Amino acid sequence: MLILVYAVLIIILLLVILNLRYPSVSWDTNNIRFEDLLFPDGFIWGVATSSHQVEGYCDNNDWYIWENSIDEVGKPRIKNGQKSGVACDHWNRYREDIELIKELGCNAYRFSIEWSKVEPEKSRWDEKAIDHYQAVCECLLEKGIRPFVTLHHFTNPIWIWEMGGFENEDTVKYFLEYVEKIVTSLKVYVDWWATFNEPVVYAVLGWYLGIFPPGKKNILEATRVLANLLEAHAKAYYVIHGADDFDADGDGVTCNVGIVKSVQIFDPYRRWNLLDWFVFYVLDYYYNQSFIDAFLSGEFKVNVPLSVRYRRRIELLENSLDWVGLNYYTRVLCGLGLFRKEKIILKNTKRLPVTDMGWTVYPQGLYRALLRLRSLGVPIFVTENGIATMDEKLRGEFILQHVDAVRETLLDGVDVRGYFYWSLMDNFEWAEGFDKRFGLYYVNYNSLERELKRGSEIYKKIILNNIMRQKR
Ligand code: GCO
Repeated sequence: MLILVYAVLIIILLLVILNLRYPSVSWDTNNIRFEDLLFPDGFIWGVATSSHQVEGYCDNNDWYIWENSIDEVGKPRIKNGQKSGVACDHWNRYREDIELIKELGCNAYRFSIEWSKVEPEKSRWDEKAIDHYQAVCECLLEKGIRPFVTLHHFTNPIWIWEMGGFENEDTVKYFLEYVEKIVTSLKVYVDWWATFNEPVVYAVLGWYLGIFPPGKKNILEATRVLANLLEAHAKAYYVIHGADDFDADGDGVTCNVGIVKSVQIFDPYRRWNLLDWFVFYVLDYYYNQSFIDAFLSGEFKVNVPLSVRYRRRIELLENSLDWVGLNYYTRVLCGLGLFRKEKIILKNTKRLPVTDMGWTVYPQGLYRALLRLRSLGVPIFVTENGIATMDEKLRGEFILQHVDAVRETLLDGVDVRGYFYWSLMDNFEWAEGFDKRFGLYYVNYNSLERELKRGSEIYKKIILNNIMRQKR
């Protein structure tokens, strides 16, 4: 009997500690005024895209194969069998799109290089494609917009896919050759490089959940791929520093190398249920913390009970960041459904708005995510944050509330240097196809015309207000 009493007391104590240690932060997000959203001079205001999602004509990468294939039960991989095709035709319309970036008042543009276009076959470089990216950078600089280049944003050339992509450690070697070529070709324009976009999402969606190519469902393989990506990052860090000896923006630093991490906020579904805390811990560790720890210790390790245990030392990983990018979208409540069909409960928060992706709007999560990444000890940029919706009032509120959350972290002393909205314009949202509209600009996919959405006006106002103040 006494033992039982002790056990209950211990559980209560543990729950109290957990609730105190991981509070679910919330504050009033009504009545935020854009005039109050003031940021330090030199703060970066940007928009982001990625090659496969906007350029069009990506018919030599693994997503092309994926879009043209069917799953085990004969269904197309992409919703309603959609294909990226010409996408937004950004490849041809980049000049007018850069003009749109300028009209927003932005001083930076994050975009990615399509590996399959610049190296269509092993060691064969398409100089025309490289010229294209040089022209994009030149056009940006002419307009006073700083390029932030992502070297890998989910897609690989078909020849890389055929050798098993990042499952195969040899891919790392080819990736480094590609990185060196691009950095040498663009170094006179670019000082800000990101090696990979969202390695955890990329590995988990492709090798565990099976919704991205290659569509596998094996957590151990996903984990190995992730380790290979971290290794590729660490090596690329030194390749970039070796190759980029040109200070493009004249600030005395030739290059800044980072990686883009998606942080998803998890909270226990029932805050007074120890099992839900356990699920929270496991998910959060795999998705967020293992990555942070790997950069701090040089060792990547994960442990998902009854599923996967993995540990690998990754040479050079420690100190391989000059900055880190944060992609933040949402918070998920999680728990254990002992008596439910779905054993792992994943839920939205009642009473909070939900986007067309089905994601809860939770701006405080951006604040929490930034605080999490602070432990890496390098400057942070919000490299993606945005909303898929047709409700322009909601988009406007989303932007206001999330920019406000960034400002909160600055007040707390976190070194946040910039904010990039995802995305400049509506685009190809991977397995979801074109229906989910994240853009600041609406894209009419018949005429390919772009039009500023009503909800985006607030972003323009925030930027203008800050830039005017700096000029004064
Ligand atoms: C990702 C990517 C983007 C997405 C965006 C919205 O997170 O999947 O970086 O390519 O389009 O995040 O889902």
